[in-house]
Amino acid sequence: MLLPRQVRIVEVGPRDGLQNEREIVPATIKLALIDQLATAGLTTIEAGAFVSPKWVPQMADSAAVLAGLQRRPGVSYPVLVPNLKGLESALAAGATEIAVFGAASETFSRRNINCSIAESLDRFRPVVELARQHGVKVRGYVSCALGCPYEGEVAPEKVAKVAGALHALGCYEISLGDTIGVGTPGKVQQMLEAVAWEAPMECLAGHYHDTYGQALANIYASLELGLATFDASIAGLGGCPYAAGASGNVATEDVIYLLNGLGIATGVDLDALVDAAAFICDVLKRPPASKVARALLAKRSANWE
Ligand code: HMG
Ligand code: MG
Repeated sequence: MLLPRQVRIVEVGPRDGLQNEREIVPATIKLALIDQLATAGLTTIEAGAFVSPKWVPQMADSAAVLAGLQRRPGVSYPVLVPNLKGLESALAAGATEIAVFGAASETFSRRNINCSIAESLDRFRPVVELARQHGVKVRGYVSCALGCPYEGEVAPEKVAKVAGALHALGCYEISLGDTIGVGTPGKVQQMLEAVAWEAPMECLAGHYHDTYGQALANIYASLELGLATFDASIAGLGGCPYAAGASGNVATEDVIYLLNGLGIATGVDLDALVDAAAFICDVLKRPPASKVARALLAKRSANWE
């Protein structure tokens, strides 16, 4: 099977990563991180979330982040939006791309956005319509695509149903989230094959967390089926506040190293990415979760000695 020659990376660290930090990271640091990520060549950088500040206080400054962006041509800065209230705030703050986020598990949907799956789709419908009237692109997420922290196994057909509904609403891309990182390559392929009946593979993205160390294997398995868009988070930051035990997203540095090795183009510079990882990890006072970043940083400091 031929692998894609080019892959698009959606950097989710400033949102999916920093939403999960106990200490709230100031907007100035988020902005500096976003700028470094753009310098590294990333062209889609999730910048925040217009959700309830009571639910996720870490994202409460998303309007300040959008206002402070040094927008670069060719780079988009999507933000998460759960409802019309979030959309109004996002539009007022100058958002040009948003993402609505649903789930394939009823319990996770209730815990994360306080409504059933069917209610969430009803909420998203006017959000997508209004966003598109404003020329704002809309991405969709399906959480728990490979397992749920409350319900355990999630059938691929359930994922396919929600992904298909988001596609039908007008989402240009559907990101399939292994929210708790339990997926393995065989299950990933079964899930993707089921979803591809409802939405074309070129409209799908893989959003894999690395809790059980399977994320890179899952990306490879997805590449084999022709998936060519992956979400990743600088330094492997992240988790989900409503998924206890979920570790970070797959680290962007690790994904780029894998893709470089396969000769797959991404337009992302690994050294500049490691600079960004070192910057945010200095702020957070811990080493990157990325093995590639740790190896390259160790090599740099050995060369300086
Ligand atoms: P609710 O309490 O049912 O909402 O929350 P409500 O409509 O009843 O409103 C309650 C209060 O929230 C009101 O304020 C509203 O004004 C306010 P009060 O009168 O009490 O002062 N409110 C808002 N404030 C700001 N922005 C808004 C907004 N909406 C209502 N947009 C709601 C429902 C969806 C708002 C809430 O459950 C929420 O914010 N959830 C977000 C949870 C979240 O952000 N989770 C993390 C992101 S998902 C994720 O990480 C997974 C992903 O990475 C993929 C993967 O890994 O699987 C995407
Ligand atoms: Mg996530």
